[in-house]
Amino acid sequence: MPLDAFEPTLFELSSENEGRSWLPQDDGAELDALLPTQCLNADMPSLPIVAELDVVRHFTKLSRRNFCIESGFYPLGSCTMKYNPKICDSLASLPGFANLHPQADADMAQGTLGLMDDISDFLEQLSGMDKVTTNPCAGAHGEFCGMLLVRAYHRDQGSDRDTVLVPDSAHGTNPATAAMVGYKTLEVKSNAEGCVDLDDLKSKLNDNVAALMLTNPNTLGLFEKDILEIAKVVHDAGALLYYDGANLNAIAGVARPGDMGFDVVHINLHKTFSTPHGGGGPGAGPVGVKSHLVPYLPIPLIENNGGKYALNYESKKSIGQLSTFFGNTGIVLRAYVYMRMHGAGGIRQNSVHAVLNARYLKYKLKDLIPAEIDADNMHEFVLTLKDKKRFGDFNAMAFAKNLIDRGYHAPTVYFPLIVKEALMIEPTETESKRTLDEFAAVVADIMAEAKADPEKALHAPYTTPVRKLDEVTAARQPVLTQPCLE
Ligand SMILES: Cc1ncc(COP(=O)(O)O)c(C=O)c1O
Repeated sequence: MPLDAFEPTLFELSSENEGRSWLPQDDGAELDALLPTQCLNADMPSLPIVAELDVVRHFTKLSRRNFCIESGFYPLGSCTMKYNPKICDSLASLPGFANLHPQADADMAQGTLGLMDDISDFLEQLSGMDKVTTNPCAGAHGEFCGMLLVRAYHRDQGSDRDTVLVPDSAHGTNPATAAMVGYKTLEVKSNAEGCVDLDDLKSKLNDNVAALMLTNPNTLGLFEKDILEIAKVVHDAGALLYYDGANLNAIAGVARPGDMGFDVVHINLHKTFSTPHGGGGPGAGPVGVKSHLVPYLPIPLIENNGGKYALNYESKKSIGQLSTFFGNTGIVLRAYVYMRMHGAGGIRQNSVHAVLNARYLKYKLKDLIPAEIDADNMHEFVLTLKDKKRFGDFNAMAFAKNLIDRGYHAPTVYFPLIVKEALMIEPTETESKRTLDEFAAVVADIMAEAKADPEKALHAPYTTPVRKLDEVTAARQPVLTQPCLE
C-alpha cells in the first residue's frame, strides 16, 4: 500500500479468519489457574482479530507518517522542538535507572537519588533560585505546584488574597492553573512594544493580588526589559512573582529569573534540556523557589546527608505530594545527561544560538510576512497575515496547510491570542543555516503561489492522506467510539 493512502484502523482490518500468530500458542489454562475466578471474564473482549504480520505492518505504516524532529524542520513556536541527542535516551535507559522499582527503598536507589539531587543543584545555579524540586511532571504541573506554593505562603501569612494577574500574551495554561488552584484571574495588557504595560499592571495591583505570572522572554519572543521594575511593584503590593520557564531556552546560562526578582519558577526540562515531547508528553517541570517558599515545597524532598540520600516525607507546611514517587525520573535523567554533556558554557552557547537562529530567520522572512512587533526578538518571533490588502483571504491556517504540503511541520498558529492571523516561529539552536535558508525559500514559494493562485493556496493540503479537515466540528463534536466497542 502506498504511504499516502488512507490506513484503515485495526478494527476495520479485523476479520474472524485472520487471527493467526507465529508465536507459540497456549490455551491460557495455566494463567487462569493463577487468577481468582471472580476476576475472570466469561466473554471474549471485543478486540480486533488481525494477522500478526499485518499488525506489525499497520504500526510500521503509521510510524512512517509520524512527523518528528528527526524527519523534518519543526518550527513550532513556544514548544521548543529541538533535536534531542540520543545519548540522553540511552544513558537514562541504563538498566540501573530504567529497572529501578519506584517503591525501592532509598538505600537501593542511591544512584538515582544522587543524580536527582545533582540536577536540582544545577537548576538552582541556572535559575538563581534557592531550592528546586524535581517532583512536577510537566510545565503545567509545575505551574500548579507553583500556584499551590503561592497560596500556601499567603495563607501562612494570614492573608486570603484571591486574584492572580496574567498578561494578555500569556500561555493558556497560566490562567487555567491559577483558576484550578481557586484564584480569580485578571488580565494585564501588553503595550505597543509587546511587553507588560506597567501602568495597567500598577492599576491592577492591590491587597487582593496573590501573584503575577510572567513568561520572560514572553510569548511574542520579547524580553520584558522592565522586569526589575515589574518585580518591585509586584513585591511592593505584597504579591509574588511567578516565572513561567517555558522560554528558558532563550536565556539559560545568560540571565537568571532569580536575579530578575522572581519568587518561584517552573522549568520545562522537555524544552530546554533534551527530551522529545511531541504529542503531549512526557515532560518534567521542576520548580525552583526563593528561601521564603522552601517550607511549602512538595514531598518527598531528597535529602543529601553527607553523600547518603534519603527521601523525606516529613515537612509540616508542605503542599503535600504532587506526583507518585519522586517525579518523572526518566525525563529528569535525560536532562541530567544533557546538562553534563554541555556544561554551563555549552548551555549558554545554545541559548545564544537559539536567539541568533531566530533573528536570522526573521530577517530572511521580513519582506514576505511582517512581524507583529518590529523589535529585537529572542528565541522565537511572531509574524502576522492580518493585512487583508496584502494577503487577501490567505490566512495563518492556509499558510500552515501549504507548509505541510511541502513536507514541513507548521509553526504555531493563532497564538498568542493578542495577534491576529499569528504565525509563531521558533527555529531553535539545533537547526543549520542551510535548513533556515531552505525554509525561507519555501515560505517565499508559498507566498508567491498564494498571490498567483489564491483559490488553490486556500484549499491546501493536497498531498496528505486526508484533505482540509473541518477542525471546528472535530473539536466541538468529536466522535471517539469504534463501531465494535459501542
Ligand atoms: C509559555 C508556556 N507556558 C506553559 C506551557 C505548558 O507546558 P507543558 O506543555 O509542559 O505543560 C507551555 C507549553 O507549550 C508554554 O509554551
